[in-house]
Amino acid sequence: MIGPHRIEGYAIISADGMIADANGVMPDAIRNDADQRFLQTALDHAVAIVHGRHSHEGGPRAARRNRLILTRQIDSLAPDPTHPHSLLWNPAGATFGAAIDALGVGTGVLAIIGGTEVFDFFLPIYDAFHLSCATHARIPGGRPLFAAIASRSTPQEVLTRHGLRPGPPRTLDAAAGVTLTTWEH
Ligand SMILES: NC(=O)c1ccc[n+]([C@@H]2O[C@H](COP(=O)([O-])OP(=O)(O)OC[C@H]3O[C@@H](n4cnc5c(N)ncnc54)[C@H](OP(=O)(O)O)[C@@H]3O)[C@@H](O)[C@H]2O)c1
Repeated sequence: MIGPHRIEGYAIISADGMIADANGVMPDAIRNDADQRFLQTALDHAVAIVHGRHSHEGGPRAARRNRLILTRQIDSLAPDPTHPHSLLWNPAGATFGAAIDALGVGTGVLAIIGGTEVFDFFLPIYDAFHLSCATHARIPGGRPLFAAIASRSTPQEVLTRHGLRPGPPRTLDAAAGVTLTTWEH
């Protein structure tokens, strides 16, 4: 918890732990309608979402959501002229607490949605991580969920090292082989 906020991560990975291909594009092999429904519903209940400058959850309700966008193009905090309800945030110049205060959101979940560096940044403080897996997909040479995956750790090992434990896996889409496991402290 950071103050009154729960920190929860959301990602869908390939069987080899990737969130995107080598060019930073999320391939169709890890896009799934059931996972999108799960994600969009969860984000509707979050008080704010947090992501890097190259990520975005999309969908028709995106413009209504409060968000922090990580970037080094500003010194600390700045309004985002292109997204309503958004703040640009450079953690080198402002703490997470200061960024959340500036965004002005109430008690509840802060949803962390990537990419790699952002997922890594929050590893010490996740209360939960909702990890979907497209078990039929592999993306050799892709962008890993966490940087340590590039040096052969699995996502599960990284989450375990940070004190999280898996709940029972759920099937989101049996035909597509998409599962969801929530890891929690
Ligand atoms: N499968 C999934 O669940 C999932 C989740 C998220 C993203 N993705 C996909 O992954 C791809 C993009 O991933 P990505 O890792 O390249 O992008 P990203 O994290 O969205 O964006 C990277 C940018 O965020 C900023 N940033 C990240 N960490 C920062 C920090 N600690 N301090 C300040 N700024 C920071 C920097 O912006 P500046 O360059 O402005 O400084 C950096 O260039 C997209 O295809 C996206 O769709 C997939």
